[in-house]
Amino acid sequence: MNDRWENAAAYDGFMGRWSRLLARQFVEWLGIRSSAVWLEIGCGTGSMTSAICELADPASVLACDTAPDFVAYCKKHLTHPQLTVAPTTPGCIPSVAGGFDAVVSNFVLNFLPVPASALQQMRETCRPGGCVAATVWDYSEGMDFLRLFWDAAVALDSAAEKLHEGRRFPICRPDALRSAFELAGLLDIRIEPITIVTAFSSFEDFWEPFVSGPGPGPTYVSGLTEAARQQLADRLRDSLGSATPIRLQARAWAAKGVR
Ligand SMILES: C[S@@+](CC[C@H](N)C(=O)[O-])C[C@H]1O[C@@H](n2cnc3c(N)ncnc32)[C@H](O)[C@@H]1O
Repeated sequence: MNDRWENAAAYDGFMGRWSRLLARQFVEWLGIRSSAVWLEIGCGTGSMTSAICELADPASVLACDTAPDFVAYCKKHLTHPQLTVAPTTPGCIPSVAGGFDAVVSNFVLNFLPVPASALQQMRETCRPGGCVAATVWDYSEGMDFLRLFWDAAVALDSAAEKLHEGRRFPICRPDALRSAFELAGLLDIRIEPITIVTAFSSFEDFWEPFVSGPGPGPTYVSGLTEAARQQLADRLRDSLGSATPIRLQARAWAAKGVR
């Protein structure tokens, strides 16, 4: 499956607004000491990058991403003096003499071809005793707004079954996440849920990002006919009810291990 990462502003309105909320709790949970040297893989529009800069008192943060538009967005919007934002290529993880103190990613692991190999590379670029950490959304159970979207899509179109992120990303379950961290040779592994509330001011606030954003859900919507798109929107509107704001739970699994 080829996920396209482009249109940074639309991504930020679709997922970035939620990953930003969650990243703050993730950084607090990591508890990395002050003056650490950080590497972030797949910074997107900077949700975790800004949390590290604002909450963790880093010595330096190198944030990288393969999507030029996302790198440009971060360079424009994030101005922390300790931060460097850099483009990278798939499979290429930056290194630093002595290794990074913390090598992290927020909602990236499941989009990489072989998550355990990526974790192994993250481990290799980390100093001995340093921390490798990642979050993934709990697509199959606890990430309500995406699960509701895919459940509705599958109910109307069986071809959506293979695209359902709850089925597509087995790594997003705690046991599989633990196995991948173990396979990568990480020690003292901890996996915990982190939950936020996604509050949509209206149905339009819920639905519009699926029409304009990047990512698996919007890519699916963009391939529908106008009639099928309307049918999906109507089904979702019915299932969500008329009360606003629409408050849903979004749970992620946070994982960390020591090199
Ligand atoms: C779901 S987004 C998460 C973005 C951001 N971390 C957040 O929390 O909102 C996945 C990001 O991973 C990036 N990405 C995908 N493959 C990558 C790779 N091999 N190396 C670095 N970044 C990658 C994408 O460009 C995209 O920005």
